[in-house]
Amino acid sequence: MSGLLRLFALCATLLLALHGAEAAQFHWNVTDVQGTAWDYIVVGGGLTGLVVSRRLAEDDDKKVLVIEPGSDERKNPDIYQVSKYGAVFDTPLDWAFKTTPQAVIGNHTRKIRAGRVLGGSTAINGAAWNRAAKSQYDLLGDIVGDDHFNFTTLQSYMNRAESFVPPNAAQREAGADYVRSAHGTDGPLSIGFSPIQLAKRMFTGPAPHVFTQAVNAVLHAPTLRDQCDGNNTGVAFTPTSISQQNMRQASYMYLKGTHDNLHILLGHRVTKLIWTDDTPRTATAVQVQKTAEEKPTIVHANGDVVLAAGALNTPGILERSGVGAKDVLHKAGIQQVIHLPGVGKNLQEQTMNTMGLKADVNYTGAGPSNTIANSNVYQLFPNATQVKKYMYEHLDEWSEQLQAQGHVVHASTLQQHWKYVMHSFLEKGAPVTEHFFDTGFPANSYGIDTWFLLPFSRGSVHVASSDAFAPPTLDPNYFAVPIDMDFQVASLRANRRLFRYMSKRPGFEQGEHIPGTDMVPETDNNYDAWRSWILGLNGKGHGFGTVSHPIGTCSMMPRADGGVVGPRFSLYGATNVRIVDASILPVQVSAHLSSTLYGLAEFAADMIRDRD
Ligand SMILES: Cc1cc2nc3c(=O)[nH]c(=O)nc-3n(C[C@H](O)[C@H](O)[C@H](O)COP(=O)(O)OP(=O)(O)OC[C@H]3O[C@@H](n4cnc5c(N)ncnc54)[C@H](O)[C@@H]3O)c2cc1C
Ligand SMILES: *[C@@H]1O[C@H](CO)[C@@H](O)[C@H](O)[C@H]1NC(C)=O
Ligand SMILES: *[C@@H]1O[C@H](CO)[C@@H](O)[C@H](O)[C@H]1NC(C)=O
Ligand SMILES: *[C@@H]1O[C@H](CO)[C@@H](O)[C@H](O)[C@H]1NC(C)=O
Ligand SMILES: *[C@@H]1O[C@H](CO)[C@@H](O)[C@H](O)[C@H]1NC(C)=O
Ligand SMILES: *[C@@H]1O[C@H](CO)[C@@H](O)[C@H](O)[C@H]1NC(C)=O
Ligand SMILES: *[C@@H]1O[C@H](CO)[C@@H](O)[C@H](O)[C@H]1NC(C)=O
Repeated sequence: MSGLLRLFALCATLLLALHGAEAAQFHWNVTDVQGTAWDYIVVGGGLTGLVVSRRLAEDDDKKVLVIEPGSDERKNPDIYQVSKYGAVFDTPLDWAFKTTPQAVIGNHTRKIRAGRVLGGSTAINGAAWNRAAKSQYDLLGDIVGDDHFNFTTLQSYMNRAESFVPPNAAQREAGADYVRSAHGTDGPLSIGFSPIQLAKRMFTGPAPHVFTQAVNAVLHAPTLRDQCDGNNTGVAFTPTSISQQNMRQASYMYLKGTHDNLHILLGHRVTKLIWTDDTPRTATAVQVQKTAEEKPTIVHANGDVVLAAGALNTPGILERSGVGAKDVLHKAGIQQVIHLPGVGKNLQEQTMNTMGLKADVNYTGAGPSNTIANSNVYQLFPNATQVKKYMYEHLDEWSEQLQAQGHVVHASTLQQHWKYVMHSFLEKGAPVTEHFFDTGFPANSYGIDTWFLLPFSRGSVHVASSDAFAPPTLDPNYFAVPIDMDFQVASLRANRRLFRYMSKRPGFEQGEHIPGTDMVPETDNNYDAWRSWILGLNGKGHGFGTVSHPIGTCSMMPRADGGVVGPRFSLYGATNVRIVDASILPVQVSAHLSSTLYGLAEFAADMIRDRD
């Protein structure tokens, strides 16, 4: 190339980067991608999949293929407008995983949602943007056995995702604030406070302030400038993954500035990996299929295969590939290739109840209200010391029960994890409950969506058969450990106290109407009444909903502990397979998951490129 041409090419590249043009190549026909020697095949075009793909494809000489079952819906207002939250639930864009009958709710089932679309769950999520406590990132290092996993490292990776927009004068006036070091400046996602003139239901009016004051006064929890700086116990105006033009900032924003070495096959799922015969195993290809009726076909891998299909789908891909526990594989008629009994186990999913304070408001639509309170155990329990003692006395019993039920590999490992998590929330004050303040849900109310963030219960997700189009057997095992109910009850009791405080302010006098004291009387021994309402038993309300934050099903921890991947995101027993999605997180954190997962995926991309 002549000097002039070279200069011209450089200018074109710079222009592309500046204008965020996208040159990734989309395909719908698998034959289009079968003739290429792929350096990386990424399974899943969701949050973690698109982060890793984009970063790997920044090396122009690497050929990267993403395989995603969903479609590109970036022009669909039900996707790009977060105010339409819920519009695509139970459509083909939602995996809508159904649980097994749950004994605790009289064998009823629940649905856990996940996006089946470019962007994955970030294309359908609620866009709340916050981070966990410093101690929770630090304890990952203890569990994983590698102190690279700490707050300092992960904070810098989480920042990489963001182009943070500081609050403007009106937003500051409304209560928004931030801490500079807790945000990135040149990442693909525009993170900030939604423009109040476009989304009136956020910020405006007295409600967020009345809620905040109630949290300060009743829970003695401080107002925080920013929930992203590692100190998140308290109440804050939280940012969202929504741009100032009111556009959802899903992981597909990572496609801006990509080149034509990144290819995306839509409408196809990976059903399993094809292995060499030698140990450790090498994945030489992935098996791909469009519909249950069409025949599967093969795409060859010339380098790493990166699994990013999400916490409820990645275990199934592994199990169909012969990776997992012998008894689980045997039941599904699958021959074991790699013995990893932790696959599909250690599932942790949260349960949510919404309480309502009746008000003459008539907000329509849905979406984030921007006010989130996180409370810790001392703010919820007057008898926290007894609760602590009670927990320590029962760890043996609870962990042995979960092991006997087949939901964890080793009771002793689970106990160790609980102890790390308990240290963080008992000694370091990390939050245990989220109180998500909501304007307009339930209708004509101010609502508080509430969930215990750190369930002790463990469940599992496994293939029901070798059929890649059959839904998995999904058992979150809700409330299996009784302390989970104790935390949920204490959290709802705290909400009732918040509502009582709020109802002394003008406009809020009508007070709590959901569940209301007819349903749950205000007596000293109303635990059973709260429990019934939480579970939706005896016709008392609909019962809890799921938060759709599943994790833990391919946990990163030592192999001897029942781990599935090691600290470099590599699958044990294989040479070239990585897992980067929510399944690797071994324990829950006290935050909505996306910011944390962007950080983990950025970290993984560096490790895969070997730049750590
Ligand atoms: C309804 C809902 C609301 C949420 N609200 C918030 C919120 O407000 N704030 C927040 O921070 N987080 C929120 N989350 C959580 C967050 O969005 C997820 O935790 C996160 O997106 C998970 O990332 P992931 O990469 O593990 O999986 P995903 O983002 O779900 O991506 C997985 C991708 O893999 C694809 N896939 C599945 N199977 C296969 C296969 N066999 N072959 C190839 N590809 C496959 C899927 O179609 C999907 O695109 C919410 C999630 C949901 C579902
Ligand atoms: C895919 O491409 C191949 C080769 O060009 C062609 O034969 C086939 O009909 C195409 N399939 C579909 C579904 O379009
Ligand atoms: C729930 O299902 C289990 C297993 O099938 C059964 O033993 C139990 O009696 C059922 N419980 C109710 C309340 O129906
Ligand atoms: C955190 O990890 C980084 C490496 O990623 C390391 O340099 C640093 O010392 C660690 N910090 C602590 C407190 O362990
Ligand atoms: C967290 O921030 C609050 C409010 O600024 C402060 O009172 C508290 O001491 C901080 N906690 C820690 C652990 O830094
Ligand atoms: C709320 O708005 C809807 C639609 O505009 C209207 O039909 C309804 O009467 C309103 N309700 C109240 C309480 O204002
Ligand atoms: C702590 O107090 C709550 C009531 O606030 C009660 O339900 C619970 O049993 C107590 N826990 C212990 C371990 O004493």
